[in-house]
Amino acid sequence: MTETTVRALGASAGPSRIVLGVTGGIAAYKSAILARLFVKAGHDVRIIPTDSALQMVGRTTFAALSSHPVHTSVFDDPEGVEHVRVGDEAELVVIAPATANTIAKLAHGVADNLLTTTTLVATCPILVVPAMHTQMWNHPGTQANVQTLRDRGVYVLDPAVGRLTGADSGVGRMPEPEQIAQTAFGMLIDQDLAGTRFVISAGGTREPIDPVRFLGNRSTGRFGIALALNAAQRGAKVDLVACNIDRALLPNHPRITVHPVGTARELQDAMTQKADGASVLIMTAAVADFRPAQSGGSKFKKGAGATPDITLIENPDILKGLASDRSHGALVVGFAAETGDEHGTVLDYGKKKAIAKDADLLVVNRVGETVGFGDVDTAITILDREGNPVAEDEGTKSHMAGIVLDTIATHVR
Ligand code: C5P
Repeated sequence: MTETTVRALGASAGPSRIVLGVTGGIAAYKSAILARLFVKAGHDVRIIPTDSALQMVGRTTFAALSSHPVHTSVFDDPEGVEHVRVGDEAELVVIAPATANTIAKLAHGVADNLLTTTTLVATCPILVVPAMHTQMWNHPGTQANVQTLRDRGVYVLDPAVGRLTGADSGVGRMPEPEQIAQTAFGMLIDQDLAGTRFVISAGGTREPIDPVRFLGNRSTGRFGIALALNAAQRGAKVDLVACNIDRALLPNHPRITVHPVGTARELQDAMTQKADGASVLIMTAAVADFRPAQSGGSKFKKGAGATPDITLIENPDILKGLASDRSHGALVVGFAAETGDEHGTVLDYGKKKAIAKDADLLVVNRVGETVGFGDVDTAITILDREGNPVAEDEGTKSHMAGIVLDTIATHVR
């Protein structure tokens, strides 16, 4: 990610008051770059270092970057009651790097310097970016403190793996400023979906033929993942039912819980189980319409003379099931990948499917050579229950995810 992209992302969230806490890790020098990214994106940044952080980076650097005076103690500006005002007005607190010492203090409500005191006053979202030696990170004391913070709703980034201070390397390195800025900007997004719960299926099912072979499809799960991330960034809790998705693609967000499944019937069980009490159910998964009637207990062998006979039977239509039994009370959203042909356009087929599936919204995804599958742009039209278009757009999957969520948001408010 380039600095320009990060800046554009930050700017789209609008100017906000960010408190940047810097503690005494060697990575403190990277906080100067982080402060610059925040300022360049138009935010008002107050930098609060600890005394040890000032052993690494000078007060003047932080003051010049933020255009604000830099204090470390509540006694530096007693008339201004700085910790209360700055903490109260903050829209986001980012502590990067966060040492094991400061993490322990935050977990236990210690207020012994301006940063910890300000953080105790703040009621806004808090992002903690740990950076320390591997042994300190792995210590049960640190792990318990991190868990305490996460349970309290603080967003604690996992440290990166790589070169640490000196010759060591391992887990504990502070992620790069661009990544931290991207996470921080995500946290500034309007929380219009707070209080809702989404259940989203993504990826493609695999139906076993024998213990090693399956009937599958090319779905990567990218659209469902983009929807899950967008919903979580907007405050929703998300159950992501992931059908055979590459682990490297799975999102890492504290409000997303991933439930891995394999077959259509496993997907159906997971969706039905999670549907109760959900606000929105979204079926983006590519579900196999048929499965082998029998999936033998041992591998089919060649050379036995005859080729295996595979009888297929129909899988349940999960979306239709969720749309017909409304005891869950959730909004039901389906997806349809269409190409259009000499008998009808993409929208003709989409309309027929919208009526047949009876979902509240059907997102029709035009697939073809350059749109649709994998890491490519996509073109969508969103239809209501009667098949009337309510929104359409074309672009990247994450942009399209925003459009789909905007339409859904008007239905769940
Ligand atoms: O019928 P078609 O596969 O085109 O419909 C696509 C929509 O239906 C998607 O939302 C997909 O997740 C869902 N579906 C389903 N169960 C199936 C087949 C598709 O829920 N067996």
